Amino acid sequence: MCGIIGYSGPKEPLPILISGLSRLEYRGYDSAGVALIDGDNLSIEKKEGKLSVLKEHLEGTSIKGNIGIGHTRWATHGVPSDVNAHPHADNANEFAIIHNGIIENYAELKDDLIQDDYSFISETDTEVVAVELSRKWNGELLDTVLDVAKSLDGTYALVVTSTKQPGTIVAGRMMSPLVLGVGEGEVFLASDSAAILEYTNKMIFLENGDFVEINDGNFTLYDIEKNVITRDIQVIDWEVSEAEKAGHDHFMYKEILEQAEVIERTIAGRIEENSTEIPIHLDKAKKFEKIWIVACGTAYHAGLFGKDLFEKVLGVPVSVELASEFRYREPIVGENDLGIVISQSGETMDTIAATELLKENGAHVLALVNVVGSSLARMADSVFYLHVGPEIGVASTKAYLGMLVGQLLLAKHWDSDDKLAVAFDEISDLPKLIEQTMACEKQIKDISEKIYKKNDIYFIGRGLDYALAAEGALKLKEISYLHAEALAAGELKHGTLALIEDGTPVIVTASQNHLLDKTTSNVQEVIARGAYVIAIGDNQSKKLENISDEYVTLPDSNEILTTVISIIPLQFIAYHVANLNGESIDQPRNLAKSVTVE
Ligand code: F6R
Repeated sequence: MCGIIGYSGPKEPLPILISGLSRLEYRGYDSAGVALIDGDNLSIEKKEGKLSVLKEHLEGTSIKGNIGIGHTRWATHGVPSDVNAHPHADNANEFAIIHNGIIENYAELKDDLIQDDYSFISETDTEVVAVELSRKWNGELLDTVLDVAKSLDGTYALVVTSTKQPGTIVAGRMMSPLVLGVGEGEVFLASDSAAILEYTNKMIFLENGDFVEINDGNFTLYDIEKNVITRDIQVIDWEVSEAEKAGHDHFMYKEILEQAEVIERTIAGRIEENSTEIPIHLDKAKKFEKIWIVACGTAYHAGLFGKDLFEKVLGVPVSVELASEFRYREPIVGENDLGIVISQSGETMDTIAATELLKENGAHVLALVNVVGSSLARMADSVFYLHVGPEIGVASTKAYLGMLVGQLLLAKHWDSDDKLAVAFDEISDLPKLIEQTMACEKQIKDISEKIYKKNDIYFIGRGLDYALAAEGALKLKEISYLHAEALAAGELKHGTLALIEDGTPVIVTASQNHLLDKTTSNVQEVIARGAYVIAIGDNQSKKLENISDEYVTLPDSNEILTTVISIIPLQFIAYHVANLNGESIDQPRNLAKSVTVE
């Protein structure tokens, strides 16, 4: 949440800050700002609203500097406004700071500073840190930042500059991501590697408690006690073009369309027996007594899909848990358990906390993540990267598909008795199937025209289709702001059927042929109450096709792969309904990519 960018080097910082911020805008977009230091002059420019507002404002200014920092905000403390936007300064306008995370003891610190006659203009926790830096100034920026950091409770990625030591940037992290980009004689800072990928692919992912001092394009890493530390430089193999829209109006749309290609990468080298790309092989997998799949949002929905697969192939109980709940109860996790944590960003605070809980209880933790070098990837005992490239649209699409396929690949390698061989033998066909499924877009666009003005839309399905329904409903509500609800199809008659009336859209996915008759009966129930039924299935679902108002036919495959490709029409429905309603698809209101706060 919130985007951070920083630059030290021979180039003019402002254009680098702005291009970095535009790549980071998906992380937060209620305000944005930059600070540049030119000798003893600190210029801070910040504006409420999207980055375009700041850009327009900057056109009339000529701020310069030899170092710069920038931020795009997702409000935690204080409403979105010019004043609450970052960077924040101290009372004398000598320190500029940007911050992601939450300083939990900011109110106490603020009271204490007010006692000492310091004043505040914003409602943010970040301004308190800026003012505290000036109170604690001890003649050296790094020392002062380390001193202040010791008094902070909570989470942060902090980046600080000061006219008292022009030419220096000091940054540090505790739970919020911070990446150092290492160029030739220049250094970049970012909350996300995609923001600086056009300048360098050499990255250092700071760990909790790491600090960095940057001077004239050089850097030194320290721990909080000022001991010099070293961290490996990782080379990121994402292409810059992957973080661009490729001529499309929205990242989400581009990310839906590129799924065949990216899933090819997820699969590459991971089908063959004994593939070294599979982090846990059958001999080890067989020993686990229980599996906990823990994740949030879309990643949680992907976990619902994995439950059935892992239970079938390993014959052990699998519990799928919302990370935000799991961390606050006392789950009975044992040393012989496997925790599978799923996350696109690898930085979701709740999932990180759940991982800690799993590890403390002795479970082996396997992370399915997309972002290389992310916190979860580093914390886990084993990692399986999704390899779907940077996902910029706030509504997750290709990462979700990558999560399904990742779990499918694991299950394939753990299927000792070939229970699901039919499905697994065809995994290499998936990219082709995904490509063929894209052909449904035109039909989905027409269907979207018919439903985009509705207030309530229901998604139903049984078994793996219920997991899909949950994701389809989330996708629709987060970008179109319509009320969408997912239900296990058999649950309708236990209450929700009361809400079905003439014309209510009900979207049903029917990939599970062995459940088809049951699902079809549930569809009959909603039809009898006047529902407008949109069904998604293959050629074998003739009965369902005949009774539905709309039928989206998927290419033929086995049940499991049919479930995987069924998400594509649901993604298109969400996209086109939101587009017809004129919503801000890549930056839905109130949301941000990468939820690094509780
Ligand atoms: C919805 C969406 C979110 C995320 C959730 C977890 O489209 O993207 O629900 O899935 O915030 O994020 P990650 O996967 O980064 O842990």
